[in-house]
Amino acid sequence: MERKRGYFITFEGADGCGKTTQAELLEKWLSKKGYKTLMTLEPGATDLGKNLRQILLHYEKPVSDEAEMFMYLADRAQHTQMVIKPALEDNKIVLCDRYTDSTVAYQGYGRGTDIEQINTLNEIATKGLKSDLTLLFDVESEVAQSRLGKTKDRLESQGMEFHKKVREGYIDIARKNPSRVKIVNANATIEEVFSNVKEIVGELLNI
Ligand code: TMP
Repeated sequence: MERKRGYFITFEGADGCGKTTQAELLEKWLSKKGYKTLMTLEPGATDLGKNLRQILLHYEKPVSDEAEMFMYLADRAQHTQMVIKPALEDNKIVLCDRYTDSTVAYQGYGRGTDIEQINTLNEIATKGLKSDLTLLFDVESEVAQSRLGKTKDRLESQGMEFHKKVREGYIDIARKNPSRVKIVNANATIEEVFSNVKEIVGELLNI
């Protein structure tokens, strides 16, 4: 039977894991092969989301854990309905830099919000849309942090303990969702990491 929609691939991992570089390389590779692609991100792909991103990453006064979580979810709801679903219906391969797993890893494992509640809220925000494949770029927290520039945003400037919890959270997510989430060793050269990415995506697309 012919597939009725495109593919949804998400990129996950700690700040500094190199996922954005890999998403860009993959988009070029797929476009060259003639696939229609859409590269997008969370938070901040829509007009509404851009405003939320500014607050989420740069607001200087204290933000409650719940307010933070709901802003990520609001961004996701808008993004999924306005951008991701239409692109999938247009048979595009959507490459999304962060999605539902980021909220589970950062707000759940990192901040300590109940994971089951986050799963339910993610379900509401996305109306149940899940990725076909999630690439998790895994690297030691110290290495990831050392790759970041000197001016860190609100989330990046959380302590090492927070970042280690996020990393462990991601590994747990991969362990619980082995058919959807594939771990990529991000402690390697850009070329080596990309060769692994091509192998995994090639298997999904049968190329
Ligand atoms: P970025 O630097 O990859 O664009 O992501 C922005 C920051 O937002 C990053 O530190 C991870 C964080 N984040 C969450 O805490 N929860 C979420 O649901 C998402 C999408 C991002």
